[in-house]
Amino acid sequence: MGKILVTGAAGFIGSHTVDFLLAEGHKVIGVDNFRTGRKGNLSRAVDSRDFSLHELDVSAPGALGGLVGVERPDAIIHLAALVSVQESMTNPALNFSLNVQATHLVAEAARTHGVGRVVFASSAAIYGDAPEQPAREAGEKSPVSPYGAAKLASEALLLGHGATFGFTVRCQRYFNVYGPRQDPSSPYSGVISIFAKRYREGRGVTIYGDGRQTRDFIAVGDVARANAIAATRANLFSGAANICTGRETSLLDLAEIFGRYLPASPLPEHAPARSGDILRSLGDPGKAAAEMGFTANVRVADGLAALIAESAEVVVT
Ligand code: UD1
Repeated sequence: MGKILVTGAAGFIGSHTVDFLLAEGHKVIGVDNFRTGRKGNLSRAVDSRDFSLHELDVSAPGALGGLVGVERPDAIIHLAALVSVQESMTNPALNFSLNVQATHLVAEAARTHGVGRVVFASSAAIYGDAPEQPAREAGEKSPVSPYGAAKLASEALLLGHGATFGFTVRCQRYFNVYGPRQDPSSPYSGVISIFAKRYREGRGVTIYGDGRQTRDFIAVGDVARANAIAATRANLFSGAANICTGRETSLLDLAEIFGRYLPASPLPEHAPARSGDILRSLGDPGKAAAEMGFTANVRVADGLAALIAESAEVVVT
C-alpha cells in the first residue's frame, strides 16, 4: 500500500479522494488551508489511523516542501485550487497564486524530495468555448478564463518538470463533476448542487436559456477512483486525459430526472441564457481508458438518485 499526499483534502473532490484511498488501505496525508475546504467533509477520514491532516497554504513558498520532505509520500494528488471560474476573472492575481504558483511549488517539492508521481486536477476549461465534440486531448486548447489558462499552464509546468527530473505526471481533465459535499452556495456553483438544494427545499429551479445545453456530468465517486488509479497504478506514463463519461445530458433532462424523484416540485422557470455559456460540453473518455484503465461507472440518473438519498450530506448551512 502507498503513502499519498492530497492537497485540497477538505474540498469536494479532495475529501472523496481521501475517503477512497483510505478504503483501499493507503496511508493518506491531507493538506488544506480551509479557504473553501471544510473540516466536516473529512468527518469519516479523521477517524482513520492512516490519515493525518495538516493546515497549510500550498502557495506559500516552503510550506508544502517542508511537509513533503518529512513525509516522503509515494505520490502527490494536487487538488488545492481556486475553484471558481468567476473568481478567477474578478481576482486574476489570486488565480495566479493559487492555480499557477502553487503548482510550481508542488512540482518543486516533488523534484526536491524524489516523489515518484504527481496527479493534477486539470479541467475541461482548458479547451475553451468551442472544442470539437467530443473534446479530445490532442485537440485545440483555447481557454476563455484566467482559470482555464492557469490549468493549461499548470499542466505544462508539471509535465515539463516530470520529464526533466524523472517523475510521472498525470493531468486529469475533469468535466462537470457532481455529488455529495459540493457547495451549492454561490450562483456559480455546479448546476446539480444548486438543483439538488432547491428541489430538496421544495423550490423550483431556474434554467438559463432553453435548457437544451448539454454537459458531460461525472459523479465524484468516479473521479475519486480515477485519482486513486492515477496515483497508484503501476507502470503509468506521464500524460493528460479527460475524466468524463462520454455521455451528454441536457439541462431539461436534468430537471426531468429530478422531477421524477421529487414529483411535487414546481416546474422549472427559464431565464435568459448566461453570457459566455457554452452550448455543448462532451469529452472523449477513450484516452483515460487506454492509458489508465479508467471508465466512469455511474449513470447520471443513478448519481442523482444517490444524491437525493444522501440529502443530509448535501445540505450546507
Ligand atoms: C463547468 C465548471 C467550470 C469549467 C467548465 C468547463 C462547475 C461549477 N463549473 O462550468 O469550472 O470551466 O465546466 O466547461 O462545475 N445553469 C442553470 N441554472 C442554474 C445554474 C446553472 O441553468 O441554476 C446552467 C448554466 O447556465 C450552464 C449549465 O447549467 O448552461 C452548467 O453550469 P455549471 O454547472 O455552472 O457548469 P459550467 O458552466 O459547465
